[in-house]
Amino acid sequence: MRNRIRLKSKKDIEKMQGSGRTAAIMLQRIGEAVSPGVSTAELDRICCQTIKELGGESSFLGYQLPNHPPYPATICSSINEVIVHGVPSESQILQSGQIASIDTAIFLNGFHGDNAFTFKVGQVSAEAQKLLDVTRTSLYKAIEQAKPGNRLGDVCHAVQAYAELHGFHIAHNFVGHGIGRSMHEPPQVPNSGVPGTGPRLKPGMVIAIEPMINVGTGDSVTLEDGWTAVTADLSLSAHFEHTVAILSDGPEILTENPDLWDHF
Ligand code: MF3
Ligand code: CO
Repeated sequence: MRNRIRLKSKKDIEKMQGSGRTAAIMLQRIGEAVSPGVSTAELDRICCQTIKELGGESSFLGYQLPNHPPYPATICSSINEVIVHGVPSESQILQSGQIASIDTAIFLNGFHGDNAFTFKVGQVSAEAQKLLDVTRTSLYKAIEQAKPGNRLGDVCHAVQAYAELHGFHIAHNFVGHGIGRSMHEPPQVPNSGVPGTGPRLKPGMVIAIEPMINVGTGDSVTLEDGWTAVTADLSLSAHFEHTVAILSDGPEILTENPDLWDHF
């Protein structure tokens, strides 16, 4: 029954709170280093260092998605038109005006925590700022729907509805996912859906919700490295992600970090 959603016990959730907190600290440390002149390889080193300090293992390093080579780093750094899976490099130097999605995850105490945040590099355009605001809010609109009794389609629809209301498009080739002892577990969590459809949400489900929203087309192209996914029209794309536990009294964001939200 490989495609059954794996429910987590109270003990499992406690462990996942630890993984989530750690993932959020990693993201914050990286975010503090995001500025013009820094290479994305340097951001990856900061992530490696933080993992050494806090314990656990990178969920990304060596990870193999179907039809992809093993992932070579501990973060994905997706700049401007890159939607997801941007691979850090020494030659990629951040410049003022860019938006930089940083995605990172940790495997700690037997469970994964996964999160992403799109940081501003210096000052950004009004359009980029709107894209960040809309993408981030769409994540929270989806999280509000992640409660027992609702269905998965309610969560997925919330992202799409909010993004499209503001004239943007979801990157339809990429989805969120269940998460636990594996980084990617059933169910897939698309950023679009039909309310009232899909599996009913139950206490003990844990999902990573990750809106990827483009200013222009929702279509994407994957570059020759086998990972980097860019918008087909090279328009800007933003990405925010939280690992969210569905508990009897509603959603708990395992990767929440008020410092991160306030400072960037
Ligand atoms: N957060 C992304 C995801 O859930 C990042 C995966 S990167 C990989 O798919 F390298 F680990 F594949
Ligand atoms: Co994820």
